[in-house]
Amino acid sequence: MNIHTLSFSPTGTSKKVAQGIAQGTGYEHICHTDMTFHAPPAEAYGTSDLVIIAVPVYGGQVAPAAMQRMKGLQGNGALAVAVVVYGNRHYEHALEELSDFLSARGFHLIGAGTFIGEHSYSTPATPIAVGRPDTEDMACAMMFGEGIARKLSSTHPDDAVDARQIEQPEQDVKVMMHFKQTVMGWMKDGMQMPSAPIVDEALCTHCDACAGICPTGAIVDNKAEAGKCIKCCACVKGCPTGARSFPTPFAPLLAKNFSQRKENKFMI
Ligand SMILES: Cc1cc2nc3c(=O)[nH]c(=O)nc-3n(C[C@H](O)[C@H](O)[C@H](O)COP(=O)(O)O)c2cc1C
Ligand code: SF4
Ligand code: SF4
Repeated sequence: MNIHTLSFSPTGTSKKVAQGIAQGTGYEHICHTDMTFHAPPAEAYGTSDLVIIAVPVYGGQVAPAAMQRMKGLQGNGALAVAVVVYGNRHYEHALEELSDFLSARGFHLIGAGTFIGEHSYSTPATPIAVGRPDTEDMACAMMFGEGIARKLSSTHPDDAVDARQIEQPEQDVKVMMHFKQTVMGWMKDGMQMPSAPIVDEALCTHCDACAGICPTGAIVDNKAEAGKCIKCCACVKGCPTGARSFPTPFAPLLAKNFSQRKENKFMI
């Protein structure tokens, strides 16, 4: 069996989880493909491949840019492990969406997982799942990988899993209701949301690092083009001087309501 990882990961958490799971399988030769900047090559996967696919959750769905990158994927009966990585709020329909997409593309799902990554909007002032996936999360990813390897060497390696049956994260219903009502209130009031990060010119050294980090090529002449920006915050986290920020009202709301640690879940 050839083991592959495929990740879309502007701030690196989905990639880290995918690689941890792959490492846990104990297989020596693993092919890692990062589709953050480009669609993966039209690779002909087949029945001797296992592909671990990890993507971030945006607004309770698979990040649309990740779906866009994957549109040419063909499974041809390859085994797949579907993983969504979310920022400690909730992943809602994302895992179902990813698993349905992969099945429709000819992949055969033998594992699924929901993992936590530091929220893209997390800042020192509004911390949300800071530093995750941390050591504990990576141990969990490795354990998941070990389980996958055991399944591959069992007498029923291709037993399918139904991602809809995965255990839900523990969530206080009142907190989630409060979050949703607040957001609905903002929408009703026509509250303006920032369309892209902004730059503090006093801190910016014009090093251009942010333009190189941006997965959509949205930053030109130090300005992020709103139409191209996917609000991934890679440029914010990657700016060496802290000049770039994304002043979204979601950051304090998420930090306040979703500080309780959620746990990763997986099924094999
Ligand atoms: C536009 C946007 C929307 C997001 N929506 C959610 C969400 O609905 N639920 C959640 O828990 N995290 C959400 N997140 C946080 C990301 O899922 C999380 O930070 C993830 O670890 C990022 O993956 P990456 O490091 O691979 O880019 C969102 C992030 C962004 C940028
Ligand atoms: S990475 Fe930061 S300092 Fe460098 S150009 Fe971008 S905003 Fe300016
Ligand atoms: S400009 Fe937008 S898309 Fe580009 S890195 Fe920054 S937040 Fe992400």
